[in-house]
Amino acid sequence: MRIVLLGAPGSGKGTQAALLVERLGLPHISTGALLRDAIKRGTRLGLAVKEITEKGELVPDDVMSDLVKERLGRDDAADGFILDGYPRTLEQAKVLDAILEELARPVEVAILIDVDADQIIKRIELRAEEEGRSDDTVDVLRNRMRVYQEKTAPVADYYADRGLLTRVLGSGTRDDVLERILSVLQVDAAN
Ligand code: AP5
Ligand code: MG
Repeated sequence: MRIVLLGAPGSGKGTQAALLVERLGLPHISTGALLRDAIKRGTRLGLAVKEITEKGELVPDDVMSDLVKERLGRDDAADGFILDGYPRTLEQAKVLDAILEELARPVEVAILIDVDADQIIKRIELRAEEEGRSDDTVDVLRNRMRVYQEKTAPVADYYADRGLLTRVLGSGTRDDVLERILSVLQVDAAN
């Protein structure tokens, strides 16, 4: 299964991807996590994107394309993947289609996790205390939400136009949301 998870910052993309990995045994490809890892290791990519991610801005599309192309080309992605945090612009959605067309493995389903802004703010406040992610401050979160509305929300329409999008309510417990996603994927939740 080739799955794209869409949703605002804090909507639960990473959480649900991790739960889906346990069920489906597919690799979880989080572009945010790949960037954070590069920053932690101090690689050239990490140095180039540190300031951008700390402001909650988007890393340029061409930088992301190279990263995603390399990751999707690895053997473990041959039988499917769960993409989290990519594509985030219309340009990235087009690039992803081109990459996957070359591999003859198109996106099969896009799931948008829908959570209202109040809940997002509460979740991120909690995570800021627990994890201290550098972009989880009030001001940067506000910017991430603005960037999401402006640049990423249109990506949902891109998939809707292709008949690939399903919206899933992201409130309730983690397991509630997982059950909704499994039902979209037509995977038996009892398994
Ligand atoms: P990225 O890491 O993708 O961050 P994000 O989109 O802002 O999303 P988050 O990771 O904050 O939230 P999430 O939806 O994964 O929610 P989570 O499961 O953690 O990107 C970071 C930065 O990298 C970007 O700002 C950008 O600079 C750069 N970047 C990344 N990809 C890029 C791209 N393609 N192009 C350009 N730049 C890119 O949940 C949030 C919290 O809520 C957690 O603490 C979780 O435990 C909790 N939670 C989850 N579900 C529930 C629930 N049901 N009930 C209660 N709590 C819950
Ligand atoms: Mg995440």
